[in-house]
Amino acid sequence: AGPTDLTLRVNGTARTLRAEPRVTLLDALRENLDLTGSKKGCDHGQCGACTVLVDGRRVNACLTLAVMAQGKEITTVEGLAQGDHLHPMQEAFIKHDGFQCGYCTPGQIVSAVACVKEGHATSDDQCREWMSGNLCRCGAYPNILAAVREVAQ
Ligand code: FES
Repeated sequence: AGPTDLTLRVNGTARTLRAEPRVTLLDALRENLDLTGSKKGCDHGQCGACTVLVDGRRVNACLTLAVMAQGKEITTVEGLAQGDHLHPMQEAFIKHDGFQCGYCTPGQIVSAVACVKEGHATSDDQCREWMSGNLCRCGAYPNILAAVREVAQ
């Protein structure tokens, strides 16, 4: 099969694109829709840099086919802020220095938002477990944990 028309609902807006049925949600977001906040670290479901929310649940966009995300509500890191107001998790990452190079940060923040929203942030251990799919090669883990815990309070 060749390219096909897809409609994805991203950050509250319906977007159409033309892509091969095998294209991943991550590539559709980055290559077709110019939403480059979601990062491609490994492209194999191992690093979490590509984390987005689909119908409120966290997924690795590199392991999700764009066609499968049609009809669902996709939220990327670009969709977290409200106008000029950063999401509280974004504010907390800044306050606690939850990053160094920043490459993993969009995925970390989206994962952290889901962590709190789904009630997995009631202890440090729970947070660490939930966030364990998001790798940070700079080792900012203690600061990331501090940010998540503050928002969860
Ligand atoms: Fe998707 Fe690494 S790019 S988990």
